[in-house]
This record gives sequence, C-alpha cells and structure tokens, in this order.
Amino acid sequence: MPFFNLHPSSPFLLFFFFFFQLPVFAIFSDRDYNILIRVKTSYLHDPDGSMNNWVPNQAHNACNWTGITCDPTNSSVLSIDLSNSGFVGGFPFVFCRIPTLKSLSISNTSLNGTLLSPSFSLCSHLQLLNLSSNLLVGTLPDFSSGFKQLQTLDLSSNNFTGEIPHSFGGLSALKVLRLSQNLLDGSLPSVLGNLSELTEMAIAYNPFKPSRLPPEFGNLTKLVNMFLPSSKLIGPIPDSIGNLALLSNLDLSTNSISGSIPDSIGGLRSIESIRLYNNQISGELPESIGNLTTLFSLDISQNSLTGKLSEKIAALPLQSLHLNDNFLEGEVPETLASNKNLLSLKLFNNSFSGKLPWNLGLNSYLNVFDVSSNNFMGEIPKFLCHGNQLQRIVLFNNHFSGSFPESYGGCDSLLYVRIENNQLSGQIPDSFWNLSGLTYIRISENRFEGSIPLAISGIRYLQDLVISGNFFSGQLPKEICKLQELVRLDVSRNKLSGGVPSCITELKQLQKLDLQENMFAGEIPKLVNTWKELTELNLSHNQFTGEIPPQLGDLPVLKYLDLSSNLLSGEIPEELTKLKLGQFNFSDNKLTGEVPSGFDNELFVNSLMGNPGLCSPDLKLLNRCPKSKSISFYIVIVLSLIAFVLIGSLIWVVKFRMNLFKKSKSSWMVTKFQRVGFDEEDVIPHLTKANIIGSGGSSTVFKVDLKMGQTVAVKSLWSGHNKLDLEPIFQSEVETLGRIRHANIVKLLFSCSNGEGSKILVYEYMENGSLGDALHEHKSQTLSDWSKRLDIAVGAAQGLAYLHHDCVPPIIHRDVKSNNILLDEEFHPRVADFGLAKTMQRQGEADDGSAMSRIAGSYGYIAPEYGYTMKVTEKSDVYSFGVVLMELVTGKRPNDACFGENKDIVKWVTEISLSEGEGEKGLSLDEIVDERLDPKTCVAEEIVKILDVAILCTSALPLNRPSMRRVVELIKDTKLPHSKS
Ligand SMILES: *[C@@H]1O[C@H](CO)[C@@H](O)[C@H](O)[C@H]1NC(C)=O
Ligand SMILES: *[C@@H]1O[C@H](CO)[C@@H](O)[C@H](O)[C@H]1NC(C)=O
Ligand SMILES: *[C@@H]1O[C@H](CO)[C@@H](O)[C@H](O)[C@H]1NC(C)=O
Repeated sequence: MPFFNLHPSSPFLLFFFFFFQLPVFAIFSDRDYNILIRVKTSYLHDPDGSMNNWVPNQAHNACNWTGITCDPTNSSVLSIDLSNSGFVGGFPFVFCRIPTLKSLSISNTSLNGTLLSPSFSLCSHLQLLNLSSNLLVGTLPDFSSGFKQLQTLDLSSNNFTGEIPHSFGGLSALKVLRLSQNLLDGSLPSVLGNLSELTEMAIAYNPFKPSRLPPEFGNLTKLVNMFLPSSKLIGPIPDSIGNLALLSNLDLSTNSISGSIPDSIGGLRSIESIRLYNNQISGELPESIGNLTTLFSLDISQNSLTGKLSEKIAALPLQSLHLNDNFLEGEVPETLASNKNLLSLKLFNNSFSGKLPWNLGLNSYLNVFDVSSNNFMGEIPKFLCHGNQLQRIVLFNNHFSGSFPESYGGCDSLLYVRIENNQLSGQIPDSFWNLSGLTYIRISENRFEGSIPLAISGIRYLQDLVISGNFFSGQLPKEICKLQELVRLDVSRNKLSGGVPSCITELKQLQKLDLQENMFAGEIPKLVNTWKELTELNLSHNQFTGEIPPQLGDLPVLKYLDLSSNLLSGEIPEELTKLKLGQFNFSDNKLTGEVPSGFDNELFVNSLMGNPGLCSPDLKLLNRCPKSKSISFYIVIVLSLIAFVLIGSLIWVVKFRMNLFKKSKSSWMVTKFQRVGFDEEDVIPHLTKANIIGSGGSSTVFKVDLKMGQTVAVKSLWSGHNKLDLEPIFQSEVETLGRIRHANIVKLLFSCSNGEGSKILVYEYMENGSLGDALHEHKSQTLSDWSKRLDIAVGAAQGLAYLHHDCVPPIIHRDVKSNNILLDEEFHPRVADFGLAKTMQRQGEADDGSAMSRIAGSYGYIAPEYGYTMKVTEKSDVYSFGVVLMELVTGKRPNDACFGENKDIVKWVTEISLSEGEGEKGLSLDEIVDERLDPKTCVAEEIVKILDVAILCTSALPLNRPSMRRVVELIKDTKLPHSKS
C-alpha cells in the first residue's frame, strides 16, 4: 500500500482512492494516528510509561494502542481513555482535532493548568468529557460554542474556582453533570434547570455562596440522582421537588436548609433514598412520605423536626430509618415492628416516650438499634437480636425497667452494648458474659445485682467495662486481668469486696481505673509501673490498708489520683511529687510524717486533711512538724561541715595558684572566649544598682560602659532565696557559647566566677534589648515595619538552625522565646541565654538525671509533648520558635488574656486561620495581625505564609514539625522581592 504516507486531504488523492476503490479507513486512521503521536511526543509527560505501546507502525494504525477505541468499520478513533495513568501536563486539546472522537476520559492523572483556551471549542463535538480527579485550576470553561452533543461532563475533584457559567444551561443534550469537590465559590445557578435531559446532578462539596435550591430544578423531570450535600444551601426545599417523578436518590445533607419538608415530596414516585440530615429543617414529617413505597433509606437526622412518627411512615418497608437528633415525641407505632426490611434504627436524642413495640426485631435482621436519650419506658424488647445480626444495642438515658432479657446472652453478633442510666434490675444473664465479640459494655446507673463472673475473661477484646452505680457484689475476679485490651475499668459505687487482684497491673492499656465507693480491702498493688497509659486512678472510699506504693510516682501520664477515705498509713512517698497531677486527694486516711515539698501548698490542703499524723512546716491547717531531727539529719550536718572545710581549702589553693600565675589581686577565675581589651577588673566595679537593665529569676543584667568606650552586658547569677544550684546553668552557658560562633548567636566575651559562688558572664551589648521587650513593652517604634520583623524571623531561625544542624554534637536551646532573642543596633537578632541548653549527647544521661528535673522552657512556649515525656528534642525548639513567629505577626504575648480561657496563642491563631480557610475567601487578617504594624509595610501574602509556617512549627506531633533548616528555607521563600518602603 504505497499511498499511506501521502497527505490524505489532497483532493487528488481523494479522487484517486475513490477511483481505485481503496478502503477509506486508511485516510482516517492516518490522520488520527498523526494526532496521537503528536500528543505523545509533545504534549503529555508520561512517567509511568502508560503510552509505551503508542509506537509508530507501518500501518499507521492506532487502534491497538492503550486507551484507544476505533470504529471497527473504518478505523477512525471514537474514544480515548487515558484515566488512572501518571500523565503530567496541560489538557491536550489537540485530541479534539480528531473529528470522530466522541468520548475523552483523562481522569485521575496529573493534568494541570486551566481549560481556558480558545482551543477548548475544538471539543464541541464530544459526547463525553471526563477530566475528574486532576489538578486543573481556574474558572470552568465556557460551553457557549456548540457542545450540543455533550451528554456526560465530569470535572469533579479538581480545583476549579468561581461561578458555574451561564452557558452550562445550554448543554441541551447533557445527561450527567458532575462538578463535586472543586473550589467553586459562586452561587448555584438556576439556569441548570434548563438541562431537560439531565439524569444526574452531582455538584456537592463546593464552597458556594449560600443559595437556595432553585425551584427551576423541578423542571429536571428525568433526574434520577440529585447529589448536593455540603453545598451551602439555605432556605426551604421548593415545592417543585415533587415533580421529579424519576428521582431515585435525593441527597441534600449537611446544608443549612430550613423550613418544613413540602407535602409535595410525596410526588417522588421512584425515590429510594432520601438524605436530609444535618440541616435546620423544622415542622412535622409530612404524611405524604408514607406514600413513598419505593423508599428504603430515610435519614432526616440532626434537624429540628417536631411532632410524631406516624403509623404510615413507620409502616414503610425501610432498611434504615434515621431520625436521631430531632425533637420528635410520642410513641413509636407498632407498625414499625412489622417491617421485614429494617436493618438500622436510630431514634436517639428525641423525646419519644411510651413502650417500644414488644416484637421489634422479630420480623427483620436488625443490625443497629439506637434509641438512647429519649423517654422510653417498660421492658427492653426481647427480639432485637432475633435475626442474629444485632451489633449495637444502645438505649442509655431512658426509663427502661425490668431485667436485661436472657435472649441477648445468645447474641453472638453483639459488639457494643450501652444500656446505662435506666431502671433495669436483676442479674445480667450468665451467657451474656460469654459474648466474645463485645468491645464495649456500659451498664452503669441501673439496679443490677449479682457478681462479676469468672467467665468474663472470655470477652477478649473488651475495651470498656463500666458497671458503676449498681449493686454488684463479691470479688473482682482475677480473670479480669485477661482482658488485655481494657482501656477503661469502672466498677465504682457497687458492693464489691475483698482484695484487688495484684495481676490488675497487667492491664497495660488501662487509661482509667475507678474502684471508688466499694468495700475493697488489702493493699494497693505495688508493681504499677506497667500502667504506662493510666491517666486516672480512683481508689477512694474503700478500706485499703498499708502504704501508698512509691511506684505510683513512675506513672508517666497520671493526671488524677484519688486515694481518699481509706485506711492507708505511712508517709506520702516523695516519689509522687514527680507526677504532673491535675488533681489528687489523700484526705481521710492514716498517713503520717512530713508532707513532701511540692505538696506543701495551701492550695492542696483539702487533699491532705483528715490525716492526723501528717505534718508540715508551712501549711497552717496541718500540724507543725516536730523540731527534733532524726539521726540522718545529724549525719547530713557532719558531712556538710566536712565539705565546707574541703571546699574552703580548695578555694585557698585556687586563690594561691591564681595569684602565682596572674600576679593579680583578683580572686576571680576568668575564662576568655574572645580577644578583648579589658578584663574583670574593668567590669566588676560597675555592677551597681544604677546600671541594672533587667533581672530574671536568678540573674541580674547590667549595662556597663567601659573606660575604653565599649559597652558590654554583664549577667550576674545569684542563687537568691530559692537556693537554685546555679552551677549547671553557668556551665551550660559557658560550655555552649564558649565553643560556637554565629552571626545570630549572642557573643560571650568572658566569664568569671569566684570562690564565694558569684558567677559573672560578660556579653557584647545589644542596643535594642530583647525581641520580647520590643514587641510587648512598647520600647521600640521601629518594629512597626513588617519587613524588619521578617528579617528578625529569618535571623533567629538561622541561629537555631546552626545550633541544631551545624554544631557537633547538636545543641538544643530548650528556652526559645522572644525574651531570649536579642536585637543589636540594626535590629539583627541574636539568640541568647543558653542556661538550659543541652547537647544531644547528654540527652541520654539526662533522662534519669536531676538536670532534667527542672522544667526546661518558659510558660507559653513549651511544646505539648513535654507534658508527658520529659524528653526534649530539637523539635521542641521548633515549637517554641513557631510561638515566636506568632508573636511577631500578632504582637501579642503567648498567653495574652484576650485569647479566652484555656487558649494560648497557638490555639488562637490556628483556630482563626483554619476557619478562614473554610469560610469566605480573601483572608481578613485584621483579627490576627498586630495593629501597630504600619500597613504600608505589610504584605498580606507574606503574613499569611509566615502564619502557615508558624502553624506548621507548632504542630502537636513533633514529627509533623519541619526541621529548623527547613524553617529557614520556608521563611526565606516567603519574602517577596518587593521594593523597600
Ligand atoms: C494489533 O495487534 C495485534 C497483536 O498485538 C497485531 O497482530 C496486529 O497486527 C495489530 N494491528 C495493527 C493494525 O497494528
Ligand atoms: C504542570 O506541571 C508540570 C510538572 O510539575 C510543570 O512543569 C508545569 O509548569 C505545570 N503547568 C502549569 C500550567 O501549572
Ligand atoms: C487545590 O486546592 C487545595 C485546597 O485549597 C490545595 O491544597 C491544593 O494545593 C490545590 N491544588 C492545586 C493543584 O492547585
């Protein structure tokens, strides 16, 4: 076939082909073949090799290639489907140059860019266009030029923005329209009501402007699926909805629809599923719903419905009836029980009353049953599990009485049982405790009696066992220790007695253990350090004897400890002061001895009362401790004396040697880190009250103008009344700063200490004080320039990045805060105060050592993980730095009272920023940004980006925080190349 390579459109050739009766398909296939080759070579990047078999062949035929379908009669290309491949690139309009092409699907790839090209009109002969799940942006394309064949248009799951263009209303052949999950933010246009052929409309999950469901949609008489959840719909459902006689699925859930459901809904003659949940629909359920005999799923939960559930609606052969969270009342009609299809019944959080039909469940395979929080009374129906499918039986907060039916003992399918807060009585059937699938048993606040059977060990996956507030008696069997998944065990307020099995400490998942108000006796189990997850332990109001196990002090996350009203004796173990308790109570026991320091706070006195043997030197309401000291006290005195003598002679030796070497009269030991033209004798006489520029917990800072014209900052450490050991702080500062140099780290010039325990650190002087002062003490006007603040962010981040990534071993600062970022005369930042810094090498030692027993860091800057692990990593610095970024933007302190109760700057900023993301676009930053910033200097984009970085840095999980090095990059990327104002 020698003609295949000639251009097919040549009139001469056409004539030639016809004349010789050559097959016409050769012309078509050649044209299509060339277009496809062009797309492959110059339009789409195909990293997955999905088009690998699109290779030139002699026949110039593409019909064999992946994704191509041809007309078998003439080999013209009818359909291209390149979905689910790794394509990257813009939409290849050129495909549409194939005039026979009817169907084009490139879904779930990485198409990017927009569809806003005049070339889009090339596609006007398509019947199907599916570009869903790509990365397309911009406004939706215009369909005004033709597109009269288009039947299916699927552009869902992209990032299209703006309005749905008016021209969509002209797609006269359109049957399927899918635009869900985009960023469309116009309103829902009524012109879509013109699409008279439409069978499916799926436009859900877009941030539309609040708009009504257009009454014109009632004209869509061929519509089968209307899918509009989360579409910002307001106002009532129009009456015209009843015209949709072919509608099978109606989903308007999670909108703000109000008003009552129109009677006309009875016109939905083909309806199978109605989902109207999570709206503001009020009024009664229209009786006409009872006419919808094709309906099998009705969900109008989470609305404001009133009135009753009618017999007619209850008689519908529904599979699921969900009316929970409304204001419905009255009795549940008997007809509900005759429904043979009913699988899921949710009526919770209403005001239903009366008895449930006795035979509910008898006629169907009920699976989910939740009628909790109503006013039901009478007995629990016996047949809920008759079909052996029941997984959830939930009827708490009602007035059910009588016993728990025997029949549920055989209900192997049960997973979840919540029947608390009723008036149920008698024994729980023995066979119930054998149901091995149960994960959740809450039967508290009833009148159940009997004992906890040994068979309970068979409920292997039980996570929650809450039987409080009943009359259970007997012992807590040691079989309970086999329930290895148990998270919450609450047997409080029963009549249980005997000892607590010591194996209870084997329950490693336990978070809450509540045994209060029983008659438990014996000792508290000792080997409790397996309880790594336990946050709440309540053993109060029992008869426990013996001592409080000191091992309780090892529980890493214990927050609540109540041992009150028992017969506990001995001292309160010192170890308990390690706990970070929100609440504790040791009152009304027989405890003796001195209250450990940490608990000797007036705030806690109520938690210690009722222990006549307990004493404290400070607490007024407790006995004074006797002055006579034990032998060990004298040993301490003697040892101290010896130490005193030793240290004294040491000082003498040091002084002597120093004098020898330095010929100086000074008694100071000096270490110099920089070449400086002065020494301690030039500095120390100036440490006077007049020169003080600041003081913290254990230090005073002086500004000293030296004779030679230089100014230095001098920090003098003093131990003060709280008798802190300053040595580690001093050492840490000297060791860290002594060996590092960086433009964004403060320079330590020299340090000195004398035998009397005074310690002095001399730094270069920073003209503009600390960032904290500049932001919060209104000491500086200059920080009204946003670009200065941004520069400070970059510099400080670089300083920290240096500590984390360039120092060997890495250094963690552990006290990053605005007060520890100093500003020189040009407002260049320098990270200061290394008193708490740790090198990573030492971390291991520090885990059990005393160095970590001090809280590292400052209130408002401390990363959340510090609360439950004492381990601090570089990521804790990143968190604190994120807080500093937020301070830079907001100008507020991390714990400003204006954030509201229990909110710090992180919560405040994060909440506002997130809500901005969901709501109307065009961030109104006003609420967050420091009003003292000069608006002329502010670049909104930069501020938004810095907030993003700050939120990232303050992620709750350390893993999610970027490294400091990455933070530097992110902040630098933020800076737009804008001209200086
Ligand atoms: C299509 O593929 C088959 C098998 O891979 C091959 O035998 C045939 O020649 C191909 N047809 C064309 C037109 O390339
Ligand atoms: C599409 O993605 C590619 C690869 O990531 C990129 O090079 C190209 O600039 C993007 N095009 C558009 C319009 O965003
Ligand atoms: C699409 O929008 C989401 C949410 O706003 C965003 O996270 C994502 O980066 C956007 N993707 C593209 C390709 O624009």
